[in-house]
Amino acid sequence: MATVLGIESSCDETAAALVRGNAAEGRGEILSNIVFDQMDLHAAYGGVVPEIAARAHAEKLDVAVAQALEESGIALRSVDAIAVTVGPGLIGGLVAGIACAQGLSLGSGIPLVPVNHLEGHALTPRLTDGLAYPYLMLLVSGGHCLFLIVRGPGHHDRIGTTIDDAPGEAFDKVAKMLDLGIPGGPKVEAMAQGGDPARFRLPRPLMDRPGCDVSFSGLKTAVRMVRDDLVAQGGMTETDIADLCAGFQAAARDVLVGKSRRAMAQFRTIFPRDTRPGFAIAGGVAANGPLRAGLEAMALEEGFTALFPPLRLCTDNGAMIAWAGLERHAAGLTGEITPKPRFPVATNPMTGLWTGKRGAKV
Ligand code: KG4
Ligand code: ZN
Repeated sequence: MATVLGIESSCDETAAALVRGNAAEGRGEILSNIVFDQMDLHAAYGGVVPEIAARAHAEKLDVAVAQALEESGIALRSVDAIAVTVGPGLIGGLVAGIACAQGLSLGSGIPLVPVNHLEGHALTPRLTDGLAYPYLMLLVSGGHCLFLIVRGPGHHDRIGTTIDDAPGEAFDKVAKMLDLGIPGGPKVEAMAQGGDPARFRLPRPLMDRPGCDVSFSGLKTAVRMVRDDLVAQGGMTETDIADLCAGFQAAARDVLVGKSRRAMAQFRTIFPRDTRPGFAIAGGVAANGPLRAGLEAMALEEGFTALFPPLRLCTDNGAMIAWAGLERHAAGLTGEITPKPRFPVATNPMTGLWTGKRGAKV
């Protein structure tokens, strides 16, 4: 049994949490989970401004840690390890988080455990449900889209990713072009309710290509073209916007459901004897109702058990970093305590359509 403090500041959430548990069993106890979002600071800009984010992290990190300790009733000296996100993410936020963790570690002598943010997401189903290794993971957020085979701490195979935009990014951009405000995903979902998804013909990119890679940029452009046409014809009505949102959402769902089915087939070729493997879905986009329903129904057909960790643990938080740190600490996995804006989570060689100009981002 170990108690770990987790610190997260890689994007626009300043977070700290205390988690207690046994790495082998999973199902950790979340003693506290403090998250400060920066939505108000970035709202006027329509997206996260890295410099503003970094400064806000620097101001709030110690407050988050102090609150997390206080709420948990645990004294810092009783903590077994301090886990901190070292990447991937925005450099300023990573530096602020690492500085905070290093200060605490230096002052207390408690060991530091560097954590990959994406491994934090990937191991969340173990924290919440004790999901047994290996399992299939779909990570769908504003910054990422990844299919991972999660084999154990520090051991993940990437079998698919996005070759351009992340799904949440596409939702956000569609919301922006339709003037729906932020956060884009929930606005588009709300607007899509009652819309006709079949009115506009929108593409399902890469569905005709083998493998599990996805693409959202063409879909986003198609939405933009429909919008421009409607505007040129005299403007968009509420119904037009609802239909366009519904069409986009259905296309994004079809792509993610279709590619998830392929990822399952790939999983089965590697682990043919797994009787009912887990399929965990995390990231902010996993909040999307129609997407959840589509993934759940498909998983049932394919003999997988779909698992959606509670949303507050799917979006960025400190508990997931604490848990990943707890598993890594127990496994004796260490690493460099340096900020890594690009930090691949996978241990297998890069394959697929996209590995990025400067190497894989994730
Ligand atoms: O995981 P997350 O909180 O942050 C990171 O990106 O790391 O994900 C945020 C993303 C945003 O792009 C947001 O628009 C999207 O998740 N999102 C949704 C929904 N709720 C949040 N996308 C579609 N439907 C939703 N209901
Ligand atoms: Zn995240």
